[in-house]
Amino acid sequence: MRHRQKLGDTGGSTFHESISDVRGTFPVRRVGRQLTVGASIHIIGRVNSPNDPSALSLYKRLGGYDGIAAIVADLFALLRADVRFVRFGMGRSIDSHQRAQQLIVEQICSLSGGPCYYTGRDMKTSHAGLGITESEWQANLELTKAALKKNDVGDREQAEFLSLFERYKHDIVEASESPAPGSK
Ligand code: HEM
Repeated sequence: MRHRQKLGDTGGSTFHESISDVRGTFPVRRVGRQLTVGASIHIIGRVNSPNDPSALSLYKRLGGYDGIAAIVADLFALLRADVRFVRFGMGRSIDSHQRAQQLIVEQICSLSGGPCYYTGRDMKTSHAGLGITESEWQANLELTKAALKKNDVGDREQAEFLSLFERYKHDIVEASESPAPGSK
């Protein structure tokens, strides 16, 4: 049933939290100490309580920007230490590695509902010609899971994080077999 949201009805949360929860969707103006909301606002059901962690964006549940940056840093450390990814590190400057790491942070931040804007290239363009195989893809997922676990990410958030990667698999994996030794 449609009904007008009572601004005072905070669903158990603080008034401030409740307002910030609706701000993303509806115009909220602060007038002195009073808050006014556009007259024709109708909300279906109840605004999710910010006290309910499951109602938060994946971005927030991952610990925001810092949480994502820590997960990606651990993933890159694991990738650098793993012989299965040696060929991707060869002939590239430290800056190139750091740039790719930073772009993945941006990308996950943006995809998970955070405030970031992804400034990198699309996944097909940036991986074309690398000859990434299915087994390298699986190895990457294995290391990603390890990085998520290291950062105490819950099962649900791990699955959601991995599904963000999975959506690009068809753009990233292009070789069905291992590339020839020495190939880039
Ligand atoms: C086996 C898996 C993967 C391998 C071996 C791999 C490897 C690479 C390499 C070598 C680059 C640098 C390309 C260049 O500088 O020209 C790169 C860039 C990048 N990768 Fe991956 N990648 C993998 C999976 C992924 C996944 C799952 C994502 C996220 C969905 C991702 C996101 C990116 C981004 C954002 C960049 C930077 C794009 C840009 O330079 O504009 N990669 N990757």
